[in-house]
Amino acid sequence: MRAAAPCDLPAILAIQTSSPEAAQWEVSEYLAYHLRVAVSPSGLAGFVVARTLVPGESEILNLAVAPEFRRQGVARALIEGWLRDFPGTVFLEVRASNKTAQKAYKCLGFQDLITRPEYYDSGSESGIVMKFHSC
Ligand SMILES: CC(C)(COP(=O)(O)OP(=O)(O)OC[C@H]1O[C@@H](n2cnc3c(N)ncnc32)[C@H](O)[C@@H]1OP(=O)(O)O)[C@@H](O)C(=O)NCCC(=O)NCCS
Repeated sequence: MRAAAPCDLPAILAIQTSSPEAAQWEVSEYLAYHLRVAVSPSGLAGFVVARTLVPGESEILNLAVAPEFRRQGVARALIEGWLRDFPGTVFLEVRASNKTAQKAYKCLGFQDLITRPEYYDSGSESGIVMKFHSC
């Protein structure tokens, strides 16, 4: 796990593109936030982008793991690394249809907080806001 550098952006874009369930940002915008990558001998395995809101509160803006590295603890390592450095309350939002991510976040200790109805895609899909409290 390490902080990302601009030279990581093409690999981050490739992971994002192979993860259509994740938010599809212009990846250069991630450099304005905390951007971390999980590194494997064969390249990047995943990334997380997050921001602090106020001391003790942060938000995960996006997270994706390359399909060939899933179910191997990469998301866990990225989130636990974030929580180690920024303990407190962490929020994130996930599409209502993204049951895999919701299951993974629940395994990692997040709980449903609120539903934002008709939040995505011009109102066709709700967003689930999840919350984790680390201390
Ligand atoms: C959701 C995602 C990030 C999980 O990444 P991952 O590296 O496979 O997750 P991990 O291996 O670290 O697993 C973390 C926990 O979630 C659970 N989990 C992961 N995928 C799961 C699945 N498909 N079904 C059920 N549980 C799952 C794991 O069992 C693990 O819990 P455990 O340690 O208690 O066994 C990954 O599937 C992904 O990139 N999806 C596409 C992008 C996306 O949806 N991003 C979220 C945007 S909000």
